[in-house]
Amino acid sequence: MTSTPSLSRRRFLGASGIALVGSILPAQWTVAASGETASDSFRVLRARSGEVKLRGPDQAATAIWGYDGTVPGPLLRVKRGEEVKVRLINELSEPTAIHWHGLRLPNAMDGVPHLTQEPVAPGKSFDYRFVAPDAGTFWYHTHFRSSGQLGRGLYGALIVDEPEPMAVDQDLLLVLDDWRLTEAGAIHESFGNAHDAAHAGRLGQYLTVNSRDTWDIPVRTNERLRLRLINAANARVMVLRLDRHQAKVIAIDGQPSELFEARGGRVTLGPGARIDLLVDATLEAGAKAPLVIEYGRSEELVVARLAYAEGEPARSAPLGEPKPLAANPLPERMDFAGAFRLDVPLDGGAMSAAMMGGMMGGGTGPATKPRGIDPRAGVFWALSGRSSTGHGGPPLFQVKRGRTVVLNLPNRTAFPHAMHVHGHHFRLLDRLDDGWKPYWLDTVMVEPRQGARIAFVADNPGKWLIHCHMIEHMETGMTAWFEVT
Ligand code: C2O
Ligand code: CU
Repeated sequence: MTSTPSLSRRRFLGASGIALVGSILPAQWTVAASGETASDSFRVLRARSGEVKLRGPDQAATAIWGYDGTVPGPLLRVKRGEEVKVRLINELSEPTAIHWHGLRLPNAMDGVPHLTQEPVAPGKSFDYRFVAPDAGTFWYHTHFRSSGQLGRGLYGALIVDEPEPMAVDQDLLLVLDDWRLTEAGAIHESFGNAHDAAHAGRLGQYLTVNSRDTWDIPVRTNERLRLRLINAANARVMVLRLDRHQAKVIAIDGQPSELFEARGGRVTLGPGARIDLLVDATLEAGAKAPLVIEYGRSEELVVARLAYAEGEPARSAPLGEPKPLAANPLPERMDFAGAFRLDVPLDGGAMSAAMMGGMMGGGTGPATKPRGIDPRAGVFWALSGRSSTGHGGPPLFQVKRGRTVVLNLPNRTAFPHAMHVHGHHFRLLDRLDDGWKPYWLDTVMVEPRQGARIAFVADNPGKWLIHCHMIEHMETGMTAWFEVT
């Protein structure tokens, strides 16, 4: 195994924690999308290299890969029921594709190379065209050689507006990422190394919001804000906290939820997850409230601040109680009696019996070892006793369209996993019965030695991935696919 490049913990804070630079809100994070449109009205996205000043305006830029050379890529925005029409032009030196994370779209548009489409070769293009069925906060990203391509910045946000959007003064997009950089500020080339893959995945030491070192968000007293959070990191679980404000969760993974208070102003986003927060700006003129990411045992980093304007408040009092967002047309009715039920244990990784058993030749080793885990071949993880990277091999299961599917995901590893299902949103079931939490998810965090049970109506025909969204786990065994016929 190679080892993790040695990164000093102190640089983490020294580089991006303290130097707060006053900055204005970049317009592209607040309103409608813009950009190049082909004559047949496809929005053009060029996957190419670019440069971004991740470490602040006074530091050298970092070479990235991004859509239109930016990261996050251009904000795409449509209304629910409208068509998304995107022409991907690949200007990279390797193949790529775009996956539309969390969208319940036709299978041929899902953007999974070798499973739903051929990878788009350098110099070639591919047209994505589908109706956005649900309003909410979604994102798009590469699904090819993902450790390197996602890690270099090939992602962006897709916002689908409600027919009647919630009344807010500011609608803000906050895309969280962490970057593993060299001393000189270049992206560290250690993609896909065995140590990351067998442990928690690739963790970076620079945390950014919208690729900015820090960000002052100008607000006025008594404004209402909608914060759309997206965790675009390869593997880092982001714990985000807003101090001195009440933050209400209004949507999770793109789907409206019951309104509830984020305890302690704190939300947790696994890789791939989104949370929409409603925040009333209740502090006095001139106040500053930090938005921090908590990491490690008790460390935290200020990544942005709500910076209150001096002068008059926006209105004399905060707005009244908000109404929850209207639900999207998801298949609500589950048939638990007739459900297809499957155990899908998560296995492998450093410190696991599955991996050590074989290596130490212990009595219970090979007999209970999931097929496929082979550290020497760079395969560290398994789903349901099999290791795959997504398209080879038989499906995990096949069901007829309309069948309710209940998956039990016991995590027998020493690491958390962010399990993501393509093409469907699911319910998180209670421990003891088939009751569920009052929200939908497309990615669920399963803690070590814990489990999760999820249920969904398999109403979308085609071949769909289920995988860990910690990219280095996905690429070393923790992936499978299922088919809805
Ligand atoms: Cu963000 Cu396979 O997905
Ligand atoms: Cu994982």
